[in-house]
Amino acid sequence: MAGRDRWATRIGLVLALAGNAIGLGNFLRFPGQAAANGGGAFIIPYFVSLLLIGVPLLWAECAIGRFGGRHGYGHTAGMFHCMWKHPVSKYIGVFGIFIPFTVALYYIPITSWCLAFSYFSLTGAYEGLQGQSEVGAFLHGFQGWSSNEHFDSRVPLYGFFLLTLGITVLTLSGGIARGIERLARVALPLLFAMAVLIAVRVLTLEPPPGAGPDQTVLSGLGFVWNPDLTALTDPRVWLAAAGQVFFTLSVGWGIIHTYTSYLPADEDVALTGLSTASLNEFAEIVLGGTIAITASVVFFGITATQQIATQTFDLGFQSMALIFQQLPFGRVLGALWFLLLFFAGLTSAVAITQPVVALLQEGFGVSRGRAVAWVGLALLILSTPVLWWEGVLDELDFWAGAYALLLFGLAESVVFAWIFGMDRGWEEITRGARIRVPRIVRPLLRYVTPLLLAAILIGFTFQGLPDVLARGGWMIWSARALLVAIFLALSLLVRRALAEPAQ
Ligand code: PHE
Repeated sequence: MAGRDRWATRIGLVLALAGNAIGLGNFLRFPGQAAANGGGAFIIPYFVSLLLIGVPLLWAECAIGRFGGRHGYGHTAGMFHCMWKHPVSKYIGVFGIFIPFTVALYYIPITSWCLAFSYFSLTGAYEGLQGQSEVGAFLHGFQGWSSNEHFDSRVPLYGFFLLTLGITVLTLSGGIARGIERLARVALPLLFAMAVLIAVRVLTLEPPPGAGPDQTVLSGLGFVWNPDLTALTDPRVWLAAAGQVFFTLSVGWGIIHTYTSYLPADEDVALTGLSTASLNEFAEIVLGGTIAITASVVFFGITATQQIATQTFDLGFQSMALIFQQLPFGRVLGALWFLLLFFAGLTSAVAITQPVVALLQEGFGVSRGRAVAWVGLALLILSTPVLWWEGVLDELDFWAGAYALLLFGLAESVVFAWIFGMDRGWEEITRGARIRVPRIVRPLLRYVTPLLLAAILIGFTFQGLPDVLARGGWMIWSARALLVAIFLALSLLVRRALAEPAQ
């Protein structure tokens, strides 16, 4: 086997892992979830989930990834095949390729909308629009989901999509060190700089004329940070908190595995995992938690903010666009906000595209350039339904971006702690570690993580599933058929790829 691709530096890997974890989830999804679930009531279940499930599972995934890399695999199908010699294991592993690829079908379009809005803000394309509904109509017009006076074709939509997909593909064709790592080294510091700048601007906001008494920066911060213990007994808040932890840490996706597979066998994963989680939480709680909610509370008040936050895009795209318009240098501030989202999305977009690239490269001996080209073409074609029909995105997001994550997280915690075995697992986590991993992580991974995950999955099945299944129509069913087709196609590829002895 021609030597595996490797990260060039440790800091490069941490930046790449953090770039993958820090995404739209930190700046849009987290504030939305926190506001919709009672602000301060959300934070305690969030931290409990982070410490009891998120970080332990992150360590396990780093360990699985480095282990798989040692056997020549950069995708979870190969890794699970090595951990558990059972014919079914590789199909569990297919989830770690299916989830990121399917999410990429809508994540890359959303990332491209951020780039488009950065441009629109700078050029003043939506300047002067009043209220949520007018900005919303502008957004929908751009998406082509409703006709309006702002856009008469989908050319801008496709232009920004092709540009974003192009940058993603170009980055991946550079490989691990010269592509992904390089992008992270530039994008992540820029992202932090922009986020800090915007956060500081938000913290110095003045209430608009005629504002009510609750429209201050302090009440915005208090809304998130004053703990509200009453909500602790509400299972829905726990579900939302655990779901957000999975989403934001990129745990349960197969991505952490893929990234850490490009590490030497004895290189630390413990400190790497912890640093990744810390950077992500700083971006999520300090920056993500400050910007959108505080700004929205100052301009619209707490009640309206809770209302707006039930629709993630309304908070990020519509409210923020409106708010920045009213500030001095608003065009530039708005452009920076959307550029920040674009960078956050881009470093995640390359991450979710890499596992299937690894599968083609390793399993079929395809060159990196070709593998990337094939995957790029597949993304271009299969994203079409998302770009064309409203509603497909939500359907894919529910099954791949929420439900499958929990399923895969549960399956992998059982395979890791019970089949691979906690002793070997522990050895994998701690070998070469630059920090002492607390021993409590062992029982957490063995008992707490799988049990909590099973409980959450059951809750989720009863809470979320009926509503989703009640959706119907040919478009929804086509989206479901697409999901099944992608899963089957990837399973066939995996079967072929693993039929030969590992290279
Ligand atoms: N963690 C990312 C976010 O917060 C989502 C993501 C998950 C991106 C997995 C890439 C891989 O937006």
